[in-house]
Amino acid sequence: MATHRFDPNFTDNVINSMGPKTSPRLRQLMTGLIRHVHDFARENELTVDEWMEGVKLLNWAGQMSDDKRNEGQLVCDVIGLESLVDEITFTLADEAKDAPTATAILGPFFRADTPYRENGADIVVTKPSDGEMTFMHGRIMDFTTQKPLVGATVEVWQASTNGLYEQQDPVQTEFNLRGKFKTDADGRYYFYCLRPTPYPVPGDGPAGKLLDLMDRHPFRPAHIHIMATCEGYRPLTTQIFDRKDKYLDNDSVFAVKDSLVVDFVPREGDAQAGLELNYDVKLVADVPTNGV
Ligand code: BEZ
Ligand code: FE
Repeated sequence: MATHRFDPNFTDNVINSMGPKTSPRLRQLMTGLIRHVHDFARENELTVDEWMEGVKLLNWAGQMSDDKRNEGQLVCDVIGLESLVDEITFTLADEAKDAPTATAILGPFFRADTPYRENGADIVVTKPSDGEMTFMHGRIMDFTTQKPLVGATVEVWQASTNGLYEQQDPVQTEFNLRGKFKTDADGRYYFYCLRPTPYPVPGDGPAGKLLDLMDRHPFRPAHIHIMATCEGYRPLTTQIFDRKDKYLDNDSVFAVKDSLVVDFVPREGDAQAGLELNYDVKLVADVPTNGV
């Protein structure tokens, strides 16, 4: 029995219009989406003008997106959807006891074509005038055995102190503040980077407009992105956050997890860096699923 005064059969009619060739998972997802969206419209008595504003926002996000900018993802980020999906994935993996290093969202600034660099390289190719140089190092390990993983790949990316990733900023050299590293015979990776600084998510598109309308600030706490991969292990995407950052409890995209908060400590006797960050990543062996 419908608890509203609108056509009680409408939503079921829309759901039942899906044909037999729809896959079970798509049927499940579309059924849930249609039910929730229809309930949202009825509960809020959504007007045609309000709905059209939403349509325009979606269109605007699509029009602004290209291979350097993913505004659709950014809109999802400011309403917490990417972080929620990450939490769901992490929780499912954790229940199976296989997610020792916490995951965090990929975000829109990942580049699949980042080059490999030698361990010890400096990823700060375009030096900002105000950055704090950091020596970042750690090991990639097997979570269960704690053994180092040799030849694993760790990929990192970070924004510069002006708040921009290199693909957003014509002043930065291509692939500035990015690099892929292979772990050495002890499972170690090491390189020079910047102590990260907080930055605002881009404000000139629909995600920025949504933040404005919701009276929210756009800042992300200072972080470094990490993606770690090794044959036979589950790939890991995460971010690590500077404990001293003032936006830790207030991330505009809701990505901070306690276990990902790290300390930058003073480094002695290194002319290249006054700070150091040690971060080990623990990967979980991939259990074969027989192709299912
Ligand atoms: C980032 O981590 O780079 C990011 C994530 C979500 C929205 C914007 C930026
Ligand atoms: Fe980021």
